[in-house]
Amino acid sequence: MNNFWQKLDKPILALAPMAGVTDIAFRQMCKHFGADVIYTEFASADALVHNAKKTLEMIKFDQSEKPIVVQIFGNKPEIFQKAGKILEELGFDGIDINFGCPAYKVVRHGGGVSLMKEPARCAELVQALTESVKIPVSIKIRASIKKNSSAKKIKRTSDHGFIEGPLITDPTDCGPNSDLDEVTAVDLVQHIIKFPVAALMLHARSFERPFDGVPNIDIVKQVRKIWDRILLYNGGVTTPEIAQAMLVETGADGVGIARGAWGKPWLFQQTKDFLKTGKYSAYSESEIKNFIMQHADIAWREKGQRGLIELRKHLSWYVKGWPQAKQLRDQLVKINSIAEIKKILN
Ligand SMILES: Cc1cc2nc3c(=O)[nH]c(=O)nc-3n(C[C@H](O)[C@H](O)[C@H](O)COP(=O)(O)O)c2cc1C
Repeated sequence: MNNFWQKLDKPILALAPMAGVTDIAFRQMCKHFGADVIYTEFASADALVHNAKKTLEMIKFDQSEKPIVVQIFGNKPEIFQKAGKILEELGFDGIDINFGCPAYKVVRHGGGVSLMKEPARCAELVQALTESVKIPVSIKIRASIKKNSSAKKIKRTSDHGFIEGPLITDPTDCGPNSDLDEVTAVDLVQHIIKFPVAALMLHARSFERPFDGVPNIDIVKQVRKIWDRILLYNGGVTTPEIAQAMLVETGADGVGIARGAWGKPWLFQQTKDFLKTGKYSAYSESEIKNFIMQHADIAWREKGQRGLIELRKHLSWYVKGWPQAKQLRDQLVKINSIAEIKKILN
């Protein structure tokens, strides 16, 4: 097996998968700033097998992004086998299975985090995929899910199917002291450990507090004790200092950065610098303007007009915190051309 994970220098800084965000242009920006591993957004294994043109288009990548891991969701072992072969053929360096995602699009079909309640099923999926491909398989999981939590609690509030804001407001309902009637990352790891899974990204939040809960560091430490392969910590890494603290605290081999890279793909570079030298530099507004234009050029080159429309949210993230951010944002979310972006920024 060509296990690229073993060849990476540690700590590993990975761009975590984000539906609707980690497209080919943003991924190239993060790669440019030193991300060691790039994950695509999730792709439906069923759609891949049925040759869904849209899905294949969505996971298109550039050689410069390598090593690149494609993430799949689904719940049928025979489909995973077929999808695995297709993805291997497409030249991906690894395949990641989504066992952690609460997105409506995913859990509705019995995939993602809903599978954490069925560790034996997860094991079947892992076995099917690891047996069908030669490239390394990884998994992405969450800290925990309560046995009585259901996908019905999830409401659809955005295009990519992600809930925003808290689902449950009781602060005791998450974190290290949550009740015992739950399946944890440790349970899941115990079920799949006998298979040759190369790496694991652990999002340290529970299903019940999917994006704003306090990361459960304790669970990550417990997983570290039983998992000696690549472990990536994920959850709330928004600064180089947090990345370092989480690495020290959990003993993970690296971190997965998700929302922390919104509007600052250079977080990878800064984190690398900080971990090596204890300091890092900030970029000036004029440097950031150049990066924005670089991102826009890639979006245009790779996807044309659609790329620019999809770029709009990134533009608004880039200018967050700038003087007159609101006026800039109001204009940037309406752009249709590179020339318009240039004009607004200047
Ligand atoms: C908009 C959005 C899309 C996401 N899409 C995916 C996805 O496709 N697959 C996945 O495993 N996780 C997905 N996630 C979860 C992230 O990979 C990550 O686990 C989560 O955001 C926590 O990390 P953070 O606190 O650094 O943002 C998504 C998160 C967001 C905010």
